Amino acid sequence: MCIELSGEKVALFNVGGAVYAIADACTHVGGSLSEGEVDGTVVTCPLHGATFDLTTGNVTGPPAASSVTRYEVRVEGDAIQVAAQ
Ligand code: FES
Repeated sequence: MCIELSGEKVALFNVGGAVYAIADACTHVGGSLSEGEVDGTVVTCPLHGATFDLTTGNVTGPPAASSVTRYEVRVEGDAIQVAAQ
């Protein structure tokens, strides 16, 4: 899912109960990573297929050349807290 945090779009992913948050906009030309397919802890951009590691925000496959911001996440009961950068 995608949320807005301090004016920035942030993509949230639940992978087997672990929640990860990264910037929603792909660093290639802005594809929405929250709409990408997830395989393990890797998300594939729906526009041109760049891949990013959800645990670090690091780019792991082209055509994107740079990483996305990763946000700290804390789960408290039903609440998910995401730290602004
Ligand atoms: S916008 Fe994400 S790979 Fe092109």
